[in-house]
Amino acid sequence: MKANYFLAVLLTVGGLCQAGDAPSSLPLPVPAAASLPAGPLGESIVRGRAYLAQTKERLPDFVGNGLACKNCHLGNGIEVGTEPHAGPFVGVVAGFPQYRSRDGAVNTLEQRINSCFERSLNGKPLPLDHPAMIDMVAYMTWLSQGVPVGTQPGGHGMPQLKLPRSPDLAQGKAVYQARCLACHGIDGSGLANPAGGYVFPPLWGPQSFNIAAGMARHFTAAGFIKHNMPLGQGNSLSDDEVFDVAAYVIHQDRPDFPGKIKDWPQGDKPQDARY
Ligand code: HEC
Ligand code: HEC
Repeated sequence: MKANYFLAVLLTVGGLCQAGDAPSSLPLPVPAAASLPAGPLGESIVRGRAYLAQTKERLPDFVGNGLACKNCHLGNGIEVGTEPHAGPFVGVVAGFPQYRSRDGAVNTLEQRINSCFERSLNGKPLPLDHPAMIDMVAYMTWLSQGVPVGTQPGGHGMPQLKLPRSPDLAQGKAVYQARCLACHGIDGSGLANPAGGYVFPPLWGPQSFNIAAGMARHFTAAGFIKHNMPLGQGNSLSDDEVFDVAAYVIHQDRPDFPGKIKDWPQGDKPQDARY
């Protein structure tokens, strides 16, 4: 009885998705803005969202490139981290603490956030009790309400796309020029916003993510691009085009990360690591 009920809900919600969508792209349970608590907690949540959207402007001492969290953890124009298949923060709190093979250790959510500060933002870790850290976790916790601890909604994390062949970098360059260059620029440096941040974020060069970032991994970059790029036209490129353009992008010059020598201490380095 209960199982049938859940199946019916799944089928109904699934019916709203585009044809061909896997069940993992069910809409995420984003809370209504009206459910923001009043008082100091609500203020902390709102500040947390602002740190995720304007990371460099608000935390210049901890960000070493031109990126903001929201450039990869895509949102809906108001909330940050609400898009499935783009590292959503909806439900993320229910998935931590978590064992991560890259560190060979169990990580808290705060440590996981710092890993994106050090690698995706090529910057420095925040002190774990820094007010901005508390605000960002407050925001993610608000977004995660209703997701039971130990479970994750469909579309969580960054997707991966892997093909059983070597990438073709020349083909990747051609795809870049046809489908990405108009926004991200001929040299991948994006388009800066004179008022701060970027209109189109940099994909390589000194202002982009470093070699040890999750987005520098070939299958992760391909999965993200497949679902989300060109912006607003996700899933419009073929798997082959995406596989090649992702390789082309990640193999351009980008900042190094000296701490990478400590990664995967158990020797279980994934096939698509850049080092
Ligand atoms: C260049 C893209 C990029 C930027 C910018 C970025 N991240 Fe990430 N983030 C990723 C990727 C890719 C992953 C998944 C990596 C993996 O495969 O484990 C991730 C994972 C995470 C996770 C874990 C998600 C989960 O479902 O387990 C959290 C939390 C997170 N990032 C927070 C942040 C915060 C906070 C910022 C800004 C300070 C940030 N990220 C900036 C790319 C980015
Ligand atoms: C219409 C403009 C546009 C096009 C075309 C486009 N992007 Fe993007 N891309 C964006 C914007 C804007 C963001 C940041 C989204 C945000 O902050 O909400 C982004 C984010 C990204 C990111 C994560 C952030 C970063 O800087 O690393 C990657 C990777 C990316 N795009 C790759 C691509 C690739 C590869 C293509 C071509 C297949 C492409 N994009 C085409 C506008 C575009």
